[in-house]
Amino acid sequence: MSLRPYIVGNWKMNGTRAMLSEARAIDRAAQRYMKVEVAVAPPYTLIHAVHREAEQIAVGAQDCHPGTDGPHTGDVSAAMVADAGAKFVILGHSERREGHGESSEEVRAKLEAAIEAGLEVILCCGEPEKTRKSGEQEEYVLDQLRASLPDTLDQAGERLSVAYEPIWAIGTGRTPTLGDIGAMHASIRTFLVERFGEQDGSQIRILYGGSVKPDNAREILAVAEVGGALVGGASLTADSFMNIALAAGEGDDQ
Ligand code: PGA
Repeated sequence: MSLRPYIVGNWKMNGTRAMLSEARAIDRAAQRYMKVEVAVAPPYTLIHAVHREAEQIAVGAQDCHPGTDGPHTGDVSAAMVADAGAKFVILGHSERREGHGESSEEVRAKLEAAIEAGLEVILCCGEPEKTRKSGEQEEYVLDQLRASLPDTLDQAGERLSVAYEPIWAIGTGRTPTLGDIGAMHASIRTFLVERFGEQDGSQIRILYGGSVKPDNAREILAVAEVGGALVGGASLTADSFMNIALAAGEGDDQ
């Protein structure tokens, strides 16, 4: 694919204003790594501040509500995060699906609201360990995607990325084999092309997430159909995060 590798930091529930210096450092380094597209999703409370600091990197949110406004105490709409400076939103992360009981139908409603609000979306999917052990991971992940994605994209394919994040690999230091990552990404690509047609289905970037670190990023990013990485723990310091971006740039022989 001709798109630049997309390296996205998911800060999860980490970061106060003291973290803005890391965001600045990430942004400065990203200006030197133009072969790679770098983005960060800080907590809601930092979106506006990181957006104001950033010249090169895109800023995103980690979730949004499916509605536009109204009586939803504690929730934030897609238009609100866009107004704060978010260019994209991560949806359907396993920590939302498991920790907040989010169904794929709810994720789909959020996705439609986000596209409507002009945001790009990173849609997460991934199987629990017992599903991987029983060998049913591809069916599990494709079922999640089937239910979380709208029926048509109306040319919004370029605004959508899918992140494959096996739950057992998140924050554990364990990763699937490169062969297993390749097999899952190939299945996801086939599914996307079948569902949305060649035009939209082939444009959607498929990121890998789950214990991506500077020392494994290069080999993971070299796997066919891996268009980037969604990085949790290793995105919290500019040093480790930008070493992943550097590895992504080295893998690109243009
Ligand atoms: P991790 O998290 O890199 O800390 O494993 C990835 C994610 O949950 O997006």
